[in-house]
Amino acid sequence: MRSLSRSNAHFKNANTKMPLGVSSNFRYWGDDKTIYIDHGKGGRIRDIDGNEYIDYRLAYGPIILGYGDERVDEAARQGMSVGGVFALSTELEYEVACRISKMVAAAELVRFSNSGTEAVMAALRVARAFTGKDGHVVMEGGYHGVFSEVMWYSEVEDWTPGQGAPQVLPYGEGVPALTRQLFHSVPMNDANALEDLLKAKHNDIGAFLIEPIMGNCCGIKADAQYMKDVREICDRYDVLMIVDEVKTGFRVAKGGVQELYDIKADLCTFAKAIGNGYPLSVLAGREDVMRHIGDGVVHGGTFTAHSVSLAAAAKTLEILDETTALADIESYGLKLQAGLSTILERRGIAHCFSGHPSLMGLFFADTVPSNYREWIHSDYAFYDALAPELHELGILVEPDSREPWFLCESHNVECLQETLDKFERAVDITLPKLKQKAVAAGGPIHR
Ligand SMILES: Cc1ncc(COP(=O)(O)O)c(C=O)c1O
Repeated sequence: MRSLSRSNAHFKNANTKMPLGVSSNFRYWGDDKTIYIDHGKGGRIRDIDGNEYIDYRLAYGPIILGYGDERVDEAARQGMSVGGVFALSTELEYEVACRISKMVAAAELVRFSNSGTEAVMAALRVARAFTGKDGHVVMEGGYHGVFSEVMWYSEVEDWTPGQGAPQVLPYGEGVPALTRQLFHSVPMNDANALEDLLKAKHNDIGAFLIEPIMGNCCGIKADAQYMKDVREICDRYDVLMIVDEVKTGFRVAKGGVQELYDIKADLCTFAKAIGNGYPLSVLAGREDVMRHIGDGVVHGGTFTAHSVSLAAAAKTLEILDETTALADIESYGLKLQAGLSTILERRGIAHCFSGHPSLMGLFFADTVPSNYREWIHSDYAFYDALAPELHELGILVEPDSREPWFLCESHNVECLQETLDKFERAVDITLPKLKQKAVAAGGPIHR
């Protein structure tokens, strides 16, 4: 049994100074389950109790090469010597912007910020300015950051199919009810739902915000035809298509998810993998749309284009663009999926993978859901029971099945074998535990 005694003790102290003892609600896993990290290197992290984990959360996606990558860290040190921020610009911004434009066809012009939230917030503001319409549409199950206009979600866990659309609720308290008027959502892969909505409300809606591989919803994917249809529908109703590549960008392909689908967004947002963990985000897009910045639209921020983050991004993008790193990650992902499948098939456990091998959802169902409503049909209770067993054995995956597994260049053959061995053990621990639980509850035996 893994000891978390130092983490537990630290939690008690940290909780006296920070709500939940952490800097993001999502890092709190319970008073006795919250983990504090000592350091990370490559594809592994070590907590303050000395437990080591092969990490498939990778900070929710930014770590694309590996923790503490020497090439990127050396570049960051050079960036440090530049001096940080100046309330003026440096030449490196142009260099990184050029690299982004080379890699991503839609990125005709570029502006930098610090977080994904800031980039998406700016994208919506630019879209409002360009179209003159304040509302926006997102995918059910989508997540676009922590600003009020997108902090609404579809409640599918208590929803009954056939009883209309799921209820839309705020992510917690403090989200102004007024912002609900701007927010609309539709299920993925249902172009008619978008068309019906825009037929009725196109005078109020200026932006269609989509993550074609949903990085916060098990990697549920848009069909190629759906992407073509929604591109055409957006054009017809004078709605800008914003592709949120905060998770997929510089991860699923050099040109992001737009390259995979061969689509061109009007605006797109990037963050996470761009700097291998150093904070940098990007709003990019069509020149005629982006030129509204500075010609009516305000965009900026004290810490935008920090010299350390920019230097890290320049090096990270150079590696991703000029080496086989992304292909290597994909190949690891496919081997991992094949190994996990062998273990699950031997035990007759229905499963499938969604998303992309470098950002993959693991579903306990025969087929991948095509939208968030269908997620409720997968056996997520099995995933929920399996994840803590994996943690005990030193494999760190997200406890919530809606968050995909992330892979990085540093995941190597040793990681692969160790992951598969431990996954097999975790499955064999989970199955009898669930059986016992079902017997105790007098319910049907799970599997
Ligand atoms: C698709 C997407 N957009 C936006 C965000 C917000 O990014 P950040 O957490 O950097 O503010 C996230 C974060 O996970 C995301 O996955």
